[in-house]
Amino acid sequence: MQPILQKTGEKTGTAAHISENPTPMKAVRSGPLNGTAAIPGDKSISHRSIIFGGLASGRSRVTGLLEGEDVLHAIDAMRSLGACIVKEGTDDDVVWVIDGTGNGALLAPDGPLDFGNSGTACRLFMGLVGAYDFDTTFTGDASLSSRPMGRVLDPLKQMGTQIVESREGGRLPITIHGPRVANPVTYALPVASAQVKSAVLLAGLNAPGITTVIEPVATRDHTEKMLQGFGVPVSVEMDADGARHISVTGQHRLTGCDIAVPADPSSAAFAIVAALIVPGSQVHVPGVMMNPTRTGLIDTLLEMGADIAIANRRLSGGEEIADLTVRFSELKGVTVPAERAASMIDEYPVLAVAAAFAEGETLMQGVHELRVKESDRLAAVAAGLKANGVAHEEGEDWLKVTGDPGGGFGGGTVATLLDHRIAMSFLVMGLASEKPVAIDDAAPIATSFPQFLPLMSGLGAQFGEAQ
Ligand code: S3P
Repeated sequence: MQPILQKTGEKTGTAAHISENPTPMKAVRSGPLNGTAAIPGDKSISHRSIIFGGLASGRSRVTGLLEGEDVLHAIDAMRSLGACIVKEGTDDDVVWVIDGTGNGALLAPDGPLDFGNSGTACRLFMGLVGAYDFDTTFTGDASLSSRPMGRVLDPLKQMGTQIVESREGGRLPITIHGPRVANPVTYALPVASAQVKSAVLLAGLNAPGITTVIEPVATRDHTEKMLQGFGVPVSVEMDADGARHISVTGQHRLTGCDIAVPADPSSAAFAIVAALIVPGSQVHVPGVMMNPTRTGLIDTLLEMGADIAIANRRLSGGEEIADLTVRFSELKGVTVPAERAASMIDEYPVLAVAAAFAEGETLMQGVHELRVKESDRLAAVAAGLKANGVAHEEGEDWLKVTGDPGGGFGGGTVATLLDHRIAMSFLVMGLASEKPVAIDDAAPIATSFPQFLPLMSGLGAQFGEAQ
């Protein structure tokens, strides 16, 4: 794990957000990309597999788990709370075997839980322990320490959780202490966030009665689907306004189960966009999760004229998956409506790269949530486009990119700001732009997609060390 320089008082995504040993890297215009991209397991489902497996009674066996730094932090945290988690097998035959504590029976951790760069793990664990009558301290790297936690702490306070200690503005390090008996609430989400939804539902697992989350805009639904798989009564109802009401029954047994984690559509996005923008490419991406709460990027790319063949749709472990074949395409700019944001929230940086190679303007609307990701992604993407001479305009909650299908840009260095998706997106850009694109630090890629560089190189992508 890379130690992180921790400086004080930064807003998300300032220049202080860089690994202690940064790895500068560049991508250069490459020949056609060809072959099969074996994308690692979905990060959201991997986190939930560890948490629900760790909380369940009995044994869970997880295949396809993402072994990125974010998930490794979740594994460490779950072990600190009493779960036994062991990796068995090697290479293509790995199974993570989890013996859970049983619902209601987590142990108080001996020390602070360090979540590194992972907002998802941090917020889900706040919910998980938020209804336990002990102290838990949360720490993280400079990026995570600048992200808002009030969105999770607010509903937890309603459930009886005390904030023992917190930095100004609800920033890490934070210590919380749950009530002796938690109050099951009905909570309407003020932001479209699967992390907040999941945190409240997780706290509800240790509260007597029914805990309900109302989400006006559907966000990724892995928590509610997977909890049902672990045997928890969950109901999902749609009201007259189209809002989803998700209810869990607290203090119910979770029963260990087997989980096959599908390929992460958010990681597949980098190989997909690379194949679309590098002339002559044809890349096969098998087994990608096609859960409709996650496929907004594919919908958008298809509207832009992308040649993406979707074959062999099937079910695996309760999720729909499919095999994609992606060919180089002449893209055209589109308007991406705000309503689609939740289903592609992590994919805007790489969409901006696709847009840079599209004919005309691409307008991304209603994307204010990008400002509180691993970096301020709106600002980070705009700065990267600027450094490489791509025409664009940035608003408070929108981004407009004017493309150049010839890719007559590049030559800049992008500040990655401890943000894996900024790093990977701009490396993808450099594979097709006239001049190379450099990033100041490739180290954050290991948080979600440790195989990114060898996998892309195997398809024909050319990367080199940068100064
Ligand atoms: C995630 C939810 C999203 C997403 C993150 C993973 C999850 O965050 O950006 O990468 O697994 O629940 P928000 O819920 O804050 O939008």
